[in-house]
This record gives sequence, C-alpha cells and structure tokens, in this order.
Amino acid sequence: MNFYCAGNWKMNMNAEAAATYVCQLLAQAPKAEAQQLLIFPPALIAWQVAELLKGSAISWGAQNCFGAEQGAFTGENSPRVLLDMGARFTLIGHSERRQIFAEPDTLLAQKLEGIQRIGLTPILCVGETLDDRRWNRTREVIVRQLRTAMKNADPKKPLWIAYEPVWAIGTGEVASPLQVEEAHEILRKALAEWNSAVAERTPILYGGSVKPDNAASLANLRNVNGFLIGGASLNVTEFLAIQANAQSARG
Ligand code: 13P
Repeated sequence: MNFYCAGNWKMNMNAEAAATYVCQLLAQAPKAEAQQLLIFPPALIAWQVAELLKGSAISWGAQNCFGAEQGAFTGENSPRVLLDMGARFTLIGHSERRQIFAEPDTLLAQKLEGIQRIGLTPILCVGETLDDRRWNRTREVIVRQLRTAMKNADPKKPLWIAYEPVWAIGTGEVASPLQVEEAHEILRKALAEWNSAVAERTPILYGGSVKPDNAASLANLRNVNGFLIGGASLNVTEFLAIQANAQSARG
C-alpha cells in the first residue's frame, strides 16, 4: 500500500496564502510521489485550490461535509458540489467537529453513508481523549466511534480511517510508536470483523503532532499507511520533509 501524507489546514490561510502555498507545493513536490499527497483547505478557498491543482497528481478534499446532495442544511457543504469541483475526499468526525461543534456518532453515520453514495471518499477520524487513555478506555472508545459511524457503510466503496488521539492534536505531544501501532491494530481488527477485504485495503492514517523529526519512527509501523498533519502541513517545506522522511524510513 502507498504511504499518504494529508495536510489538514483547519481554519487557516486566506485565498492569497493558499495560492502561494499551492504553487510552491506544485513546484517542489517530488513527481513520483505527488499522488500520495492530499490537502484539505477550508471550504471558502477550496475553489481556488482546486483550480490550481487541476492537471496535477495531488488530491484535495473538504474538512467537513454533509451526507445529502442538497436541501435545507444551512451552513453545510454539499458532497455533490465538492465532487463537481474536483474533490476526492472529505474528512468526517474530526475531533474538533466532535468537540467544538458537538457532532455525534449518529450524525457521522448518516454523513458517511451519504458521502460514499455520492462518490467522495470519507476519511473517518477517531481518537480518544486524555481521560479515556488514563482510564484505559482507548480501545472501547475508538472501536465504538468506528462501528457507530460505519453503521451504514458500503463495503464496495472506498473509506479511509484516521486515528487522531485528541491529546496529541496541536499539543506537540506525539503518541509513541507503541501507542500508535496498538491503536491502528485495534482499528484494523475491528474493520476485519466487519469485512476482511476492506480491512486489508483501507488506509489508516495517524494524526497528532506529526513533524519532520518524528515522521520516520511512525512511518515504518506495520499498520500506519499515512499521516494526517495539521500545524506542520501549513509550511510546504515541513510538509514535504515529513513525506521525504516517511518515504525513506519505509525504504
Ligand atoms: P496537528 O498536526 O497540528 O497536531 O493536528 C493534527 C490534526 O488534527 C490533523 O487533522
């Protein structure tokens, strides 16, 4: 399986900064590995990012979107429009959506089903809080998040997973290789209980303070198929250094 580096810009950058960024990325990304790069700009500047990426192998996606094509859903993004714009992916269930915007697992199940049906690839984010980890509830929490959101998932349509421990997001505190591999293995097994072919082909990304200097030790873990990078993805040089270090660690 390829190793993917996905940059989640969160609510950062304006149109001008995004244009500068994408031009720099297009100029500097290694051609052979460009199809393993994904970027997730804020929806308001996605149009411009999409135009600049046209014809390149780099993919992009939305940070959030709804599960219906259209309708009375004030403030939401339509997966149909994103698809028309050239998006391939959308994140769903990022911990910031769960915690700040109170998105429940049941809503995510509805979104995931609709997003797959319409044809975008959902990247379902799961992860435990620091309290969950301290109370030894990591397995229970991430498996519950996975199963509930996948309640109506279609095994014939692509789905990606991102494991992002909440305590490691934006904190500079990175999960240890042992903690990451353990969580990814739990998720892979939970997927296999649902459908073994899906489990084998589903990329499981790790996210949480990934930086150029910790990329190598996390990239060669067996069940890690890529990274979902926040802060460090905002700088093209750092983003590409993560990819380069990951690729060389994997040989
Ligand atoms: P950081 O890399 O800034 O910790 O963010 C991780 C993240 O939330 C990616 O979705």
